[in-house]
Amino acid sequence: MTDDLLARHRAVLPSWLTLYYDQPLEIVSGSGRRVTGGDGREYLDFFAGILTNMLGYGVPEVRAAVDEVLDRGVVHTSTLYLIRDQVELAERIARLSGIPDAKVFFTSSGTEANEAALLLATQARRSTQVLALRNSYHGRSFAAMGITGIRGWSASALSPVQVSYVHGGYRYRSPWRDLSDAEYTAACVQDLRDVIETTTAGDVACLIAEPIQGVGGFAVPPDGFFGAMKSVLDEYGILLVSDEVQTGWGRTGEHFWGIEAHGVTPDVMTFAKGVGNGFALGGVVARRELMDGIGANSISTFGGNPLATAAARATLDYLLDHDLQANALKVGTRLLTGLRDLGTELPAVGDVRGKGLMAAVELVVPGSDRPDPAAAARAMEETRRRGLLVGKGGRYGNVLRIAPPLTVTESEADEGLAILRDSLAAVSSPPAG
Ligand SMILES: Cc1ncc(COP(=O)(O)O)c(C=O)c1O
Repeated sequence: MTDDLLARHRAVLPSWLTLYYDQPLEIVSGSGRRVTGGDGREYLDFFAGILTNMLGYGVPEVRAAVDEVLDRGVVHTSTLYLIRDQVELAERIARLSGIPDAKVFFTSSGTEANEAALLLATQARRSTQVLALRNSYHGRSFAAMGITGIRGWSASALSPVQVSYVHGGYRYRSPWRDLSDAEYTAACVQDLRDVIETTTAGDVACLIAEPIQGVGGFAVPPDGFFGAMKSVLDEYGILLVSDEVQTGWGRTGEHFWGIEAHGVTPDVMTFAKGVGNGFALGGVVARRELMDGIGANSISTFGGNPLATAAARATLDYLLDHDLQANALKVGTRLLTGLRDLGTELPAVGDVRGKGLMAAVELVVPGSDRPDPAAAARAMEETRRRGLLVGKGGRYGNVLRIAPPLTVTESEADEGLAILRDSLAAVSSPPAG
């Protein structure tokens, strides 16, 4: 029973392991974009295990690839042995990355991928100074928390890197929000220059950035933003690391990687989440000299193991064969247009933003831009009650995040939109009684 499971969860798991919903949900089974909960109800899933069930649930092609590994009886070898799927996947990801002469290192999570990226950059530059964006999220290790610019997700000030934060794409609460795209970008570029000149010794290792901030509430900078930022980084030899953990694999619709909207090739990219369609896989891609610049041995016991890499190979095949990037653009545009229409009708909606299948609705106290996390919590309950799962985020926990599997259909998008319309209308009117 869910209640019993919740009590057991609370008794034995950390209090800070946040659960969604007043009555937390156990997801028991799924098919396509629909899941069945421990409460016996069926839900349309527009959060996909935090953008990770990229193809949806119960995908036969992924299952067949995993079954084939299980049938051979070896799910694990460690990186001390050759792993055929790992090599093949690295070849493909290196090619897809657009980074010239790229090499790939596999991990089991996005956090580790970012750790590895920081290792490459700090080694190459012989500097532990790092730039990150305000409102960023990069994971939960010491270094990843150290470059996470949201107080609520960064539990410790201890950090192996010295980080300076610069302005990024969270425009809704920026002092420069009313500027044009070009002026906004110019203001952020000037801020970057100021921060380098006033808070660092100049020999900074890298700037790490999510092209669209995920946990930060799908904050989207103007196209070309990171290209402009990179022209300053280049003056100092500072590397650009693109954290594609949420934005990779075509989710933004227009591009395969989020950073491509900015006309720039990063020095390093990190990925995780969707690539294994739920099997634990992350990694870092970098130019050969950066990747090979580590002067000590390393292994990853689990990173890129046979099971995860077989699942990822099948996931990538499916993604490319079905051109899911095009689907993300088509269905994502429909979703975002519908949400923008809603936003003009409902006073509790302060901002609607996103790209492709990353859509955010920022909730505010009507008539103001004051964040309203209670409204977001109510909207989560209302959407669930009507059979839709969405996510929550933003610096103040007041942003709904809508990120279905990339296989979502137009009719499912319409179904989700109708539920969001009713739910947000319920939140916008004062509670009964
Ligand atoms: C942009 C980004 N980077 C890194 C991470 C950390 O990934 P993981 O939870 O797999 O360690 C996340 C997780 O949400 C993320 O959104």
